[in-house]
Amino acid sequence: MTKHLILDPRKRYRTPEDMGDDGANATENPTMGEIISRRFSRRGVLKGALAVTAISTTVSPLALLASDGARAQAATKFNFKEVVAGIDGKHHVAEGYDADILLRWGDPIFVDAPEFDPRAQTADKQARQFGYNNDFIGLVPLPGEADTSERALLVANHEYTTEELMFPGMTVQDEEDFAKMTPELVNIEMMAHGGSVVEIRKADGRWHVVKDSPLNRRITAETEMEITGPAAGHELLRTNADATGTRVRGMLNNCAGGVTPWGTWLSAEENFNGYFGVAIPEEGLPVVGPAESYANEEAQKRAQDEREAAVAARRKEVVAGLGGAAAMERYGVPGGWYAWNRHHERFEVTREPKESNRFGWVVEIDPHDPNSVPKKRTALGRFKHEGAETIVNKDSRVVVYLGDDERFDYVYKFVSAGTYNPDDRAANMNLLDEGTLFVARYDENGKGTWIPLVHGQGELTEANGFPDQASILIYTRLAGDAVGATKMDRPEDISPGRDGSIFVMLTNNTRRKPDQIDAANPRPENKFGHIVEMRAPAGDHAATDFTWDILVQCGDPSVAEVGATFSPETSQNGWFGMPDNCVIDAEDRLWISTDGNNFEDTGRADGLWGITRGEERPTSVHFFRCPVGGELCGPFFTPDTQSLFVAVQHPAEGGDDWPEFGRKSTFDDPATRWPDFQEGMPPRPSVVVIAKQGGGKIGV
Ligand code: FEO
Ligand code: CA
Repeated sequence: MTKHLILDPRKRYRTPEDMGDDGANATENPTMGEIISRRFSRRGVLKGALAVTAISTTVSPLALLASDGARAQAATKFNFKEVVAGIDGKHHVAEGYDADILLRWGDPIFVDAPEFDPRAQTADKQARQFGYNNDFIGLVPLPGEADTSERALLVANHEYTTEELMFPGMTVQDEEDFAKMTPELVNIEMMAHGGSVVEIRKADGRWHVVKDSPLNRRITAETEMEITGPAAGHELLRTNADATGTRVRGMLNNCAGGVTPWGTWLSAEENFNGYFGVAIPEEGLPVVGPAESYANEEAQKRAQDEREAAVAARRKEVVAGLGGAAAMERYGVPGGWYAWNRHHERFEVTREPKESNRFGWVVEIDPHDPNSVPKKRTALGRFKHEGAETIVNKDSRVVVYLGDDERFDYVYKFVSAGTYNPDDRAANMNLLDEGTLFVARYDENGKGTWIPLVHGQGELTEANGFPDQASILIYTRLAGDAVGATKMDRPEDISPGRDGSIFVMLTNNTRRKPDQIDAANPRPENKFGHIVEMRAPAGDHAATDFTWDILVQCGDPSVAEVGATFSPETSQNGWFGMPDNCVIDAEDRLWISTDGNNFEDTGRADGLWGITRGEERPTSVHFFRCPVGGELCGPFFTPDTQSLFVAVQHPAEGGDDWPEFGRKSTFDDPATRWPDFQEGMPPRPSVVVIAKQGGGKIGV
């Protein structure tokens, strides 16, 4: 970087909620400001002594559908002794269960890979070791096999990196304009991103890594990928390095994902905007002097504020001069959360303004072939993808449910044009290149519509700024804005159940004002999130209509103002806030993992909860608890329900919000050294396997 350039000094060190707020939705899409006839679901009717918000006996269309037998069965119970909710430096699992560490950041995943030495880390070493911040994990059957209960390919996303916890002597770089980020440290970060494929086997009741498996693979921010589907080759995807608009290096910020019925891994690029930065001319900007040059602290603070405002204005001016500035703003590009643009030109938006269009996709990877080229599937749209759970519809078309994790953004689904063939894997490999992308509108009456995002239909015309289908897929958020989709409270994982139900995790949204509530997002300043249950009519996931209801409003049910709707049977350990990922196990039970619980807001660490489904308000029970600062991802069960894989991300992150520690965690001084608890060893994001002591199904 040349000396007269400075970078946007915006801070990346933010709460999980803030992370999803860089491409704010400024449209007037329905928040249905004046809600006159608030609709209350059957679950709003609380039986029992703790009824604080008994409301009405309105029966929703969903409740009418619910009389079928499958639904009654769905309320399967969980049989285990709850974990006590709280915060400390360790993980906790329900009594009678083991939680073993399977893979940690830095573990070598090839026979010839170097052992982890955090004080002598290099980019080359990191590229041969398990990456940082494991988010989505899934199990894919080995070639020629169908089951994953005894051996499997573990696939894992490595979502993001945290400089102050990865590198010795490092402080929070976002607060220091990334001053200490050398090219080599940036390259280590790039190699710690992406994903891993690791063969694992169960022996003597425990799971082990098969280091010499020829299928093991690391995918990084530099891995060659192909852009496929309707937007491939489009002018908006062409850069100096790739005139074809079909080849891109790396995947970024891969959060949740999914495993397809044909054994591929879908990996969802989420906050890709953060990796792009903008260099702006320093000339003429106010300079902040040393502390002693100011009369007092206030004067110094004024000078800092003045500079920050001037930098922000100049940054805006520079970005406005680039092509596609409005769309970039809608996506929060450039986010400036990393120093990558100082050392790699493609992340500098003044040099490669279109490179960011090549991120924000769902990537399909074939774990059976370590040399396969990962494919960015443009038919599934471009946004801050959280998950990508697939279900084969009854007509054999494939449906993928997709969330855009930002406050006031949308819920989507993709319906393939072709059909799934269970007997021919090769025939399914490009199913996700052709089909229809839909965005959800939730109506007040418990019904809803999937609006197709198809060029020429409705608002999606050239006159409205959409000259072709590719522009709709590249600027999917703008298309959702144009057709009047419902602005949700951070849609994360979305999981379809076997009975036609679809569970949507909505993490939270404290920015929602009282005049912005709607039936599907009914709480202003929604601090704790909620879960919406949708239902495909007659189990048809390709249908363009649906019904919906709120499964639960999260938070502490003993505090009336919170408006939480857990059942009275839910204990003080059993409730949670900030639902993020979910899974439905082979016993048809729903499990929720969380992201964002903390000392101040919920008095508990993130973790895993089982939650009942059915007619009544749900009862939730606490099964696993993360160490301080950690977020729980996965979760993923083996088909025999005897092993549960979970991913603990960013243990120790933060630290200052936990009074027992009370300062910012760093490599040298972390809030916990989980999972090794060895002096000098930093906290390490890890995959954990949970099993019942002595064997048997989990929670049964
Ligand atoms: Fe990476 Fe939406 O959490
Ligand atoms: Ca997540």
